[in-house]
Amino acid sequence: MLIMDLEKNLTKILIIDYGSQFTQLIARRIRELGVYSRIISHNKIKLKDILNNNVGGLILSGGPLNVYQSNKIKFDKRIFNLGIPILGICFGHQILSKNLGGKVKGSKYREFGLATIKKKNKSLLTRGFFNNKNTCNVWMSHSDEVSKLPKAFSVIASTNNSKFAMIENYKKKIFGIQFHPEVTHTKNGKKILSNFVFSICKLKRNWSSKQQKTKLIKQVKNQVKNSKVICALSGGVDSSVVAKLLKEAIGNKLICIFVNTGLLRKAEEKQVVSTFKKKLKINLIYVNAKNIFLSKLKNVSDPEKKRKIIGNLFIKIFEKHARKIKKIKFLAQGTLYPDLIESKSVTGSQTSKIKSHHNVGGLPKKMKLQLVEPLKYLFKDEVRKLGLELKLGKEIVLRHPFPGPGLAIRMPGTITDKKIKILQEADYIFIRELKKHNLYNKIWQAYAALLPVKTVGVMGDNRTYEYICLLRAITSEDGMTADFFNFNKNFMQLVSNKIINNIRGINRVVYDVTSKPPSTIELE
Ligand code: XMP
Repeated sequence: MLIMDLEKNLTKILIIDYGSQFTQLIARRIRELGVYSRIISHNKIKLKDILNNNVGGLILSGGPLNVYQSNKIKFDKRIFNLGIPILGICFGHQILSKNLGGKVKGSKYREFGLATIKKKNKSLLTRGFFNNKNTCNVWMSHSDEVSKLPKAFSVIASTNNSKFAMIENYKKKIFGIQFHPEVTHTKNGKKILSNFVFSICKLKRNWSSKQQKTKLIKQVKNQVKNSKVICALSGGVDSSVVAKLLKEAIGNKLICIFVNTGLLRKAEEKQVVSTFKKKLKINLIYVNAKNIFLSKLKNVSDPEKKRKIIGNLFIKIFEKHARKIKKIKFLAQGTLYPDLIESKSVTGSQTSKIKSHHNVGGLPKKMKLQLVEPLKYLFKDEVRKLGLELKLGKEIVLRHPFPGPGLAIRMPGTITDKKIKILQEADYIFIRELKKHNLYNKIWQAYAALLPVKTVGVMGDNRTYEYICLLRAITSEDGMTADFFNFNKNFMQLVSNKIINNIRGINRVVYDVTSKPPSTIELE
């Protein structure tokens, strides 16, 4: 797929991806500045793509390779002569230095984490970046470094271990920086990106949720014309925004199908029906498939088997109901930009293979439907902003992500109706308290899980023998990496007491303090 098939006319920052885990963050930061950005893999990019697509600036990302592994890296030196400003970050800094006559070697001291960078010379790139001592804390993650400056370059700033940590050829508007300005740990990192975009590339703001709303509605209308579209609505942010957008674009020609798997959060099915059918007047077919999901999952405890059973059954049920609707030509899906980006190609690593994700991606092939994917160039936070612009309630738009297989993967071991009810209550109490204490929106995702272990407790004067409830709350930028949220003791105690006092079946509450990696966000 050519990544540049859309938004040809929009002036953009093009990010050439060398496989860094932070590439998507760079794109998001640029868009947060109000300027359109796109990512393209280094082995897909062609010079004519850059020339024909209104590229106003190029960013070369970081990556896990060494610049001398030339068989794995595609680099076209002609990009230096296009007159387009270039910013190389980490590996990007090294690869441009090497290709412009500098040298890169393994660092004597590897730098991972925070480092202090010191100003050596004035630069447009660092306006407003350094403190009054001419230093700044930056986030480093590298074991190679530029050891000889490329020709016609000068040093902007250095760290103790990295003399050429920031360099420039101002005349040619080429810049290289060893640290990562896109991560929040780099104080004032956004200043660097903003100076690059506005002062060096001289771009104007062209990207906002208001503009997108109008444009996407127009695009959907053009694509669908008078045909009917079906949409698998889950009640999550992405499918909800798709449904609302399509309702605005094509009105009653949109038909949503909502399958209740019985593995949803407490009262979620009622909430979805009341919001979408009653309030937003969207055509909604409600399918209560709880019993069939439960019976197919009986005695199944293997995580992958659970996921496969749920995914396949979901597709079967969805298809059965979709087939009853006449003259359907399109299927709308909440595919997001991160689903399309192939940054895994550099190392061959594929984190998505760790778990087989459940979504409706398997549908169209069998049903011969054309896809409508209006969100496919947006990041999750942009989808949320679009949702607010579409006047979808905050309750839906700011909701934490919820996995397709639902509570099944928050309940290691076998699944029973009784366990689901216990878990729904525990999760409800946890989330309710997070909201009450204004913590919900500070957390990327939080949930309760039920561990398949019973332990002994004492309540009143009686012995109890019940399940353990595990609470998980994480902060994250994109779900790829995560850290646990640091609650204070009082809050933890309050939630633990409420869960144990109100739910029969749980007599112990534990908090998961692992980050991702090494753990994952969900338990299965
Ligand atoms: P993990 O557990 O892989 O989760 O660290 C990362 C994010 O993905 C969500 N998740 C899913 N979302 N279908 C989905 O739509 C799935 O099968 C699925 N499995 C995990 C998870 O909730 C977290 O936000």
